[in-house]
Amino acid sequence: MSLLRIDASLLPATSASRALGDLVEAEWTQAHPDSVVTRRNLIESPIPADAWQNAVYAGFTPEDDRTEEQRAAVALAAQLADEIIAADALLFTVPLYNYGISQHFKLWFDLAYTDPRTNAGSTTLAGKPATLATVLGGNYDEGTPKEGWDHSTPYLTRLLQDAWGLDLRVVQRPFTLVGVNPALDQFADLAADLKSEAETKAVESGRELAELRGKTDAA
Ligand SMILES: Cc1cc2nc3c(=O)[nH]c(=O)nc-3n(C[C@H](O)[C@H](O)[C@H](O)COP(=O)(O)O)c2cc1C
Repeated sequence: MSLLRIDASLLPATSASRALGDLVEAEWTQAHPDSVVTRRNLIESPIPADAWQNAVYAGFTPEDDRTEEQRAAVALAAQLADEIIAADALLFTVPLYNYGISQHFKLWFDLAYTDPRTNAGSTTLAGKPATLATVLGGNYDEGTPKEGWDHSTPYLTRLLQDAWGLDLRVVQRPFTLVGVNPALDQFADLAADLKSEAETKAVESGRELAELRGKTDAA
């Protein structure tokens, strides 16, 4: 029994996405105390910036003609795919940066996606239970001035739920910059409610991941 956890916050010491992930993980560990939690911190140990292009080039290069860099990139992609496939459940903690997806997370996904086992058309990951815990400094909900500017959550959902076919739960906490940026002080009450809602959802999703695996094992 194992959980693979992928973290992508640039500021781990104060990270709201990691805090949500901790709630999910705690539920998992409580239900499966002997389970292994495999971690990839994409900030402490980033995927090399040229790994993806090397893995892609390798796909167009006969195996005997591949460079050392191409071989290393293909091997790393296989290692990422091994970790994803081996896990019984997946947990991703990913913030919104510059209105888009974390580049560290995108590189991790893109490289893993070069492996044939996790590439388009493969059903290896279909139905695997997963939680995406994501946080936004602002609030992009319907009716807000920047509605539609969160280009991360829909894209991550598309990749994880639709491209990989994961059985995905999305836990989102907006307005994490309230209390940090004084211009947002007026939203303190709303932000507190949103935080509490997200924490409740995180705990629920952790329980669901643990229960789903329990059922699979019993079957
Ligand atoms: C470099 C950088 C870019 C950011 N860009 C955005 C942004 O475009 N929109 C937004 O709402 N918040 C933005 N934020 C705020 C983060 O989403 C917010 O602080 C979040 O809580 C960070 O995740 P963490 O708490 O897990 O570290 C940005 C933060 C940083 C450090």
